[in-house]
Amino acid sequence: MKHFTQFEDKQTADSLIDLALAYEANPRMHASKGIGKRIGCIFLNPSLRTRASTQIAALQLGMEPIVMNMDKEGWALEMREGVTMNKGTVEHIKDAAGVLGSYFDILAIRAFPTLTNKQEDLEDFVFNQFIKYSGVPVISLESAIRHPLQSLADMISIKENINEGKKVKVVLTWAPHIKAIPHAVANSFSEWALGCGYDLTITHPTGYELDTKFTQGAQIEHDQQAALEGADFVYVKNWSAFNDYGKILSTDATWMLTEKHLRHAKKAKVMHCLPVRRNLELSDEILDGPRSLVQVQAKNRIFAAQAVISSILDGI
Ligand code: CP
Repeated sequence: MKHFTQFEDKQTADSLIDLALAYEANPRMHASKGIGKRIGCIFLNPSLRTRASTQIAALQLGMEPIVMNMDKEGWALEMREGVTMNKGTVEHIKDAAGVLGSYFDILAIRAFPTLTNKQEDLEDFVFNQFIKYSGVPVISLESAIRHPLQSLADMISIKENINEGKKVKVVLTWAPHIKAIPHAVANSFSEWALGCGYDLTITHPTGYELDTKFTQGAQIEHDQQAALEGADFVYVKNWSAFNDYGKILSTDATWMLTEKHLRHAKKAKVMHCLPVRRNLELSDEILDGPRSLVQVQAKNRIFAAQAVISSILDGI
């Protein structure tokens, strides 16, 4: 594997899931694989889980992780080509990425979308600048449009909790929020759930249609109650509008999942990538109850990252 940026194919996903499960059983089974290698974890945006789990994963492989919070500790980056840098930016992305590529064997990058410049976000412009100019393998720690390490952890969490032999119904449901939230988690979850062969239904209020590039093959159901019926896994996530780009069109509190919403999905497990705004996106009763997989998902972030880093080390 060269870079890890998105779902590639089912075979690759299955082998990453199997490797992650092996690391969960024995986290130190390749404890010397990465000795002498460094990974730079570059954050242009905040993080708890991704920051900690990626470092733990690298350490469990014997690598040296170094974290840079570029938004707070780095120079203000210029992204545009050919401009005269006579305003606020201090360093060009191509110079910064080249330097980081010379310091590290692998780079891992978090670069959120603007939610205002749709074209730039859809091109995953900032993230791809690091791939273009660093010259080393790059792992997505969440880009403008995808969060593949989260989705890999989510697929591991589903596999661990599946009732074998039964067709699995997975529902991605929009939840209310007070801020404009990126599409990356919802896009990636849809991409991976469909790619892994799950029966996926996506439910959201009108106007919250996701980019169809990520949802081909999913059933779209605007009636949340109908969507949830018979669900085995319910993934809760807010996202802002895609067509009316970055806008908040609804904060309808009736979309927040409670036990009452799951009366026709008695055994459904509930997932969320975290951080979650309690009693806005998801109720305390669900988060603190036996349906919740949120802590399982967060822990699996370690093994997902470990499987990805390990697979990239194989190619270095
Ligand atoms: N789920 C997730 O990516 O969490 P962080 O933003 O805290 O890293």
